[in-house]
Amino acid sequence: MTQEELFKVLVAHCKEYGFIFPSSEIYDGLAAVYDYGQMGVELKNNIKQYWWNAMTRLNENIVGIDSCIFMHPRIWEASGHVGAFNDPLIDNKDSKKRYRADVLIEDYLAKIEEKMNKEVEKGRKRFGEAFNEEQFRATNPNVLREKAKYDEVHNRYKKAEDANDLAEYKQIIVDCGIVCPISGTCNWTDVRQFNLMFSTSIGSTSEGASTIYLRPETAQGIFVNYLNVQKTGRMKIPFGIAQIGKAFRNEIVARQFIFRMREFEQMEMQFFIKPGTELEWFKKWKEQRMKWHVNLGMGAENYRFHDHEKLAHYANAATDIEFLFPFGFKELEGIHSRTNWDLGRHQQYSGRKIEYFDPEEGVAYTPYVVETSIGVDRMVLAVLSHSYKEEKLENGETRVVLSIPAPLAPVKAAVLPLVKKDGLPELAQKVMDELKYDFNCQYEEKDSIGKRYRRQDAIGTPYCITVDHQSLEDGCVTVRERDTMSQERVKIEDLRALIDKRVNLNNLLRNL
Ligand code: GAP
Repeated sequence: MTQEELFKVLVAHCKEYGFIFPSSEIYDGLAAVYDYGQMGVELKNNIKQYWWNAMTRLNENIVGIDSCIFMHPRIWEASGHVGAFNDPLIDNKDSKKRYRADVLIEDYLAKIEEKMNKEVEKGRKRFGEAFNEEQFRATNPNVLREKAKYDEVHNRYKKAEDANDLAEYKQIIVDCGIVCPISGTCNWTDVRQFNLMFSTSIGSTSEGASTIYLRPETAQGIFVNYLNVQKTGRMKIPFGIAQIGKAFRNEIVARQFIFRMREFEQMEMQFFIKPGTELEWFKKWKEQRMKWHVNLGMGAENYRFHDHEKLAHYANAATDIEFLFPFGFKELEGIHSRTNWDLGRHQQYSGRKIEYFDPEEGVAYTPYVVETSIGVDRMVLAVLSHSYKEEKLENGETRVVLSIPAPLAPVKAAVLPLVKKDGLPELAQKVMDELKYDFNCQYEEKDSIGKRYRRQDAIGTPYCITVDHQSLEDGCVTVRERDTMSQERVKIEDLRALIDKRVNLNNLLRNL
């Protein structure tokens, strides 16, 4: 199965097993908006808890807040979002479809790269063991031709991006013969900037109403509460404020399932520090955040840093933690050294002094900030895409299993009476009552035990507990482990400790 096919299968699996549904589906859906189902919400909550506890419990100097989605419109002027939170947009006059000009060019470049990679794979097959990829790339005429084309377009594109030259974007599209995938024509409008913020109005009368925005990031809610938290929490620099909440962006190209949505959730932490120490903290947070990811056991090789060469004017360092999604390495989290730009701008726009008085050094300053920002939904996608496996079993059957890191699994244990009679359901219910206060458990008595195991594998339940006739006599049950499918007999009173050992989130946190 290709990665593309696998991704389609994953999307269907998410729907079939109650993880993620297209929003408003009975009305034919709403593009790039998704709802979380009964399994998805549990997974999402577990991810949020892992992040929240890692931030606010493991760091005595980080506290949390929950600010509102609606904020004073001046905040978005101060933050620069009204003026510059734009994507370059282009319309095809024949299909009337709208695209992001930069994405059209990037897709074109990706196709050239794909062609080069195909040539390399052909070479690898032809030369076998003796194949030297570096030499092949440097000498093969087909690869060299494509490389020259790639470099030329890439250089033009980067220059246009740096200069914010929208006319050059269009010229590149025309020169490369990039056509609209719907109409197949090159009949394009000019490129223009499109602001990504959703706006609405607040106030009960049309005269008194004013435009406000749905926040495009949660970070500004932290910045504007800096003084409140610092003062009321008697926080000393360095300290952090963490927040989890919804953000909204009117993405023009919203695709790849929950990777890029119009309504999504962020987990952001702003770490307030003394000016001059930001690069040291930036390095620390880079390490810390990578550790948080790798600690989940999804393979260190599936993550990498992508340091930004082009920095926003207010940043003096920035990196992405990229994850190997089925469609390649893509941004999962951003870590940014934002200087004192945001606090400085809010000081200027609000007229309120936003400073920290350092009691030890006797000086006042506007703190610098290192930010860590991760999308909850992207994290859900990372976990699901990494966990989905189709395994061939010894008996020739295939089982679909989600090997979700156990502390994040939506359901931790399923309690299954072997048959629906002979007092087994009653005993199974007692087992449920024993476990339900500590773990999210499911009770299932329908279908054969084999079918029930498969259903639990498909939602990633680490343990299945089968209550059989023997259980009535010896007080033991069969515990089947998800990944190895191994089975052992365990006393009912020992179940809690056995499950807890593997699924308790605190064990993950202890390794950080
Ligand atoms: N406060 C900084 C900030 O918002 P960002 O790189 O624009 O930075 C941070 O977003 C993270 O939010 C990204 O790394 C990604 O995980 C997530 N994110 C951004 N846009 C998204 C979208 N349209 N859909 C889903 N997640 C998104």
